[in-house]
Amino acid sequence: MSITRIARIARIARIARPGRLALGHARRTLSSSAKLAQIQRPVDGLVIGAYESPKVSEPGYSPSLLAGSSLPDSARENICKILASARFKGESKECRTLYNLEGLPPIVSVVGLGKADADDNQRAESARVAAATGAASIRSHFKNSLAHIEFDALGSPLASGEAAALSTYAFDKYKQPKSRDPVLSVDFHDSVNADAEHEFAWRVGFIQGSAQNMARKFADTPANLLTPAIFSQQAKNLLEYLPHTQVHVHGMEWAARNKMGAFLSVGRGSDEPVKFVEVVYSGGKADEQPLALVGKGVTFDSGGISIKPSTDMALMKGDMTGAAVVISAMWAIATLQLPINVVASIPMTENMPSGKATKPGDLVTAMNGKTIEVDNTDAEGRLILADAIYYTATAHKPHSLLSLSTLTGAIDVALGSVFGGAFVNNDDLWKVIEDSGKRSGDRFWRMPLDDAYKPQIRSHVADLKNVGGRSGGSCTAAIFLKEFVPQENEKPLVQFAHLDIASLMHKRDSSGYLSAGMTGRPTRTVIEIAKAFAK
Ligand code: BES
Ligand code: MN
Ligand code: ZN
Repeated sequence: MSITRIARIARIARIARPGRLALGHARRTLSSSAKLAQIQRPVDGLVIGAYESPKVSEPGYSPSLLAGSSLPDSARENICKILASARFKGESKECRTLYNLEGLPPIVSVVGLGKADADDNQRAESARVAAATGAASIRSHFKNSLAHIEFDALGSPLASGEAAALSTYAFDKYKQPKSRDPVLSVDFHDSVNADAEHEFAWRVGFIQGSAQNMARKFADTPANLLTPAIFSQQAKNLLEYLPHTQVHVHGMEWAARNKMGAFLSVGRGSDEPVKFVEVVYSGGKADEQPLALVGKGVTFDSGGISIKPSTDMALMKGDMTGAAVVISAMWAIATLQLPINVVASIPMTENMPSGKATKPGDLVTAMNGKTIEVDNTDAEGRLILADAIYYTATAHKPHSLLSLSTLTGAIDVALGSVFGGAFVNNDDLWKVIEDSGKRSGDRFWRMPLDDAYKPQIRSHVADLKNVGGRSGGSCTAAIFLKEFVPQENEKPLVQFAHLDIASLMHKRDSSGYLSAGMTGRPTRTVIEIAKAFAK
């Protein structure tokens, strides 16, 4: 291994050490992690995995495909014997809890990893589910207390690290201590066979999972506690001390100077001032074009004058998930010090009705000079993104621009919560997005970005109308955004992808490695996209 790679492993190991603390403030993380690394905590529980074995009824059955690779041979043999008696097959989600085994932590949770010959992406997903299953079974032993859990590589160390973070997230800081979840700290299982490559991958995974948890926390936070002013300040606190990272928080005057009439028209109805956060990460070569990320930061979407029905309106505190994902992915990109240049633009505003609010039928002029008839004030996301996309493409000249937004309810009708919708103007960029989604397990399906939808957003009074009717609601939103991707000789200046993540935003019930609540999806896919471009 090269010196720089070892140094990188050591640094990441230091940052990713402190379990839950890494979910908090970056500065606090960095200082407390240094201290925590020196404290050897007793391990309360250990999660290991085993692949599916031949049938239990077959002669010579032994659950020998034990992935608990970090354990000494004697312990593995002992565990195999117990598992055979317990008729353990190794199927996904199958779980056995073993207690007080010689030389091992008091609780060992063995979970099934499914088929050993599955492809890498499937094995990673099995590892995530297994880590969550094991963590949940250990956690059930603890109430109102602290517990330290360690994880085996589970056949896919990166995925094990991701799920160690994801499956131990809880948003309970506003509850009385007695009704909070047990606080779990987590780590890679350090043992005799500790493999530096595995440990490195696990810690990278832990950082990626922690980034998604940050996005969840931003989205779970009620809108009165996360206004544009507070959100932008928190983004600054989180990112500004990371290496090669600059953060600028702009206000209304800056947006007005840049003639962002579409963005500003959304903020008019609110008493909370709008903010526009710009992040520049220069981990790549100075002359390299950046990747650009744009995130929808509507901290609360009431619908404005075209007000939403009250059922489930509370979920619209999560209408800043695109912003949360972009900020959290930037945290991971800078923490992992990926060799790449990335810029991020995040317009932040509330969408509220008031005497000053934009009214249906009003006309606004976007930064690129196009006029828009605001037919429905609830189609506000595309208005703020119109200016953010045009600004980012012209000011930073990225090779590719990805916008992330909880844009349309219609994408949930089309794809549900399994896939996000990707509207992409370039086949190569689509391939990167598709592959990255398969790696993270948080996947995208390609949708049409086609000018044949344009007639639906024609206006009698302006260049464009901000809604295109019920039919193809996600596709007309996408083609609206495309109007703000700068062109030269009829060709787009950048590779452009609009990711509609509305249907990924929230979960009603817990399942797999994500509990109910805001999901922070697709933070890990965005990190994988950045890694793909960094290669
Ligand atoms: N923020 C919503 C979309 C949304 C819906 C996000 C459900 C998450 C969950 C967006 O601003 C919106 O209101 N879209 C309208 C567009 C319509 C007015 C054309 C919608 O989907 O109903
Ligand atoms: Mn809306
Ligand atoms: Zn919205």
